[in-house]
Amino acid sequence: MTNHEIKISFQEYTSVQELESADRQLCAEAVKAMDNSHSPYSKFRVGAALLLKSGKVIYGSNQENVAYPSGLCAERVALFHWGANHPDDPIVSMAVTAHTDEFELKKPITSCGSCLQVLAECEKMQREPVKVILFVANGPVWVTNGIESFLPFLFFEDRLS
Ligand code: THU
Repeated sequence: MTNHEIKISFQEYTSVQELESADRQLCAEAVKAMDNSHSPYSKFRVGAALLLKSGKVIYGSNQENVAYPSGLCAERVALFHWGANHPDDPIVSMAVTAHTDEFELKKPITSCGSCLQVLAECEKMQREPVKVILFVANGPVWVTNGIESFLPFLFFEDRLS
């Protein structure tokens, strides 16, 4: 038997103010993205903003549906929009934030497994990792570089493609 250990790492900043200017701006875009969240059922607003290499910003927000499983997370709304409209303009970074009036969010929200799997596919398509910036108002910021920080055992079966 051999024991293996996998280390993943992320950077924590005390607030958005501590980030470099481009990342700070993208966080402001993610806050804007929350405006179009359609979340009458969960009352949990999520905003995602993608910065593309060209400088273009793409917005996503969670879109819920009265038939609950038909809704989609903010991250996948943004990432699928990218795939459908700008696949040749690589994603440099993605900022994600959330807000609810129901309770105070003290830590950033971390993307669900399905969104991470989609992010993995986007990285594969563009052959470059995406910097992910997770933050909440008045809370810390978590920054990672690429999907492997989240899913070290990601399903990547190269013979399928
Ligand atoms: N949600 C996102 O948009 N992104 C996440 O990373 C986690 C959850 C949405 C889905 C649903 O509309 C609401 O947040 C509550 O789960």
